[in-house]
Amino acid sequence: MAISVLVIEDDIQYGQMLREALEHFGYRVHLSFSATGGLDIIRQNKVDIVISDVNMPGVSGIELAKKVMAMYLDIPVVLVTGVHDLSLVKHALKLGVSDYIVKPIKIDEIPVVIERNLERKRLEARRIQENKAEILFKALKALMRALDAKDPYTSGHSQRVVRLAMRMAEELQLDPDKKFTLMLAAYLHDIGKIGMPDHILHKASSLEDYELRRAKDHPIIGSQIIGEIEELSEVASIVRHHHERYDGTGYPDGLKGEAIPFFSRLLAIIDAYEALVSDRVYRKAVEHESALQEIRKNAGSQFDPHLVEVFIRVLKKYRDQTEPSAREFSIRQAPVSFRIDRS
Ligand SMILES: [Fe+2]
Repeated sequence: MAISVLVIEDDIQYGQMLREALEHFGYRVHLSFSATGGLDIIRQNKVDIVISDVNMPGVSGIELAKKVMAMYLDIPVVLVTGVHDLSLVKHALKLGVSDYIVKPIKIDEIPVVIERNLERKRLEARRIQENKAEILFKALKALMRALDAKDPYTSGHSQRVVRLAMRMAEELQLDPDKKFTLMLAAYLHDIGKIGMPDHILHKASSLEDYELRRAKDHPIIGSQIIGEIEELSEVASIVRHHHERYDGTGYPDGLKGEAIPFFSRLLAIIDAYEALVSDRVYRKAVEHESALQEIRKNAGSQFDPHLVEVFIRVLKKYRDQTEPSAREFSIRQAPVSFRIDRS
């Protein structure tokens, strides 16, 4: 879609000349002969950039720029000024006006000025996005630390699940966004255990019925915690369903087959395998081969049979390789907007 430029110029002839020139360059142009008229246009139309005269009767270009900056953070304002107004405009630049052009305008330079200012706004928007992502990660890290303090086993378990999940992601050739979603879900899948009483979480003997019911709440609690963050709604859903079974007898919703989110089906396999090959408070670890046999035996009932095949393939592939650290699969795999250093 063509870039939409709002020109505000009280000199009718000059304004029309600017409009023609800009249209000639392929821009969509709105023209207003006053600042207040210009503000009305911004309210009712999509405007990408404003080019406004400084000296106008009524509301001046600088007053208009202040209003636009206050209301529309993403619209750059370029002032058009005579040499005598230059000090005024330099003051406006300090207030946040994007740029200025000195009259007489050299028409050929206008597209350069427009592109330069739009690019600056794009970079600004990206920086804001990255800052948001950084805060989000710090919050998630804090959340994991909280669970770690309560139950060190679960935190170590989650990191090992991430490692295997990323290998599955490679095998399935997932795109970076999907891979990133899977990584977050793997990290956070058991975060709901933060809401489980310690005596259930650390119990060495088998659980009583009521304790089992409490333990089975952890996917719901986890998805509620993560669901508080709007950007993570998909991760919340994956977490909610990581204990569903392929045959529909799992929890919390008894979803069956393809109705279970794909990444939940995938995590269910990794989660089960990883739990089997690790020591738990209530039992010793089992050997890799017998864990694998257990997974294979449950393909089609507990697990998605197609994904079990992929999982076995992945394990075979990496079996003899040295274990990379979980950190290797950290934030560097995030899409650009999310990529920050997780030191
Ligand atoms: Fe779990």
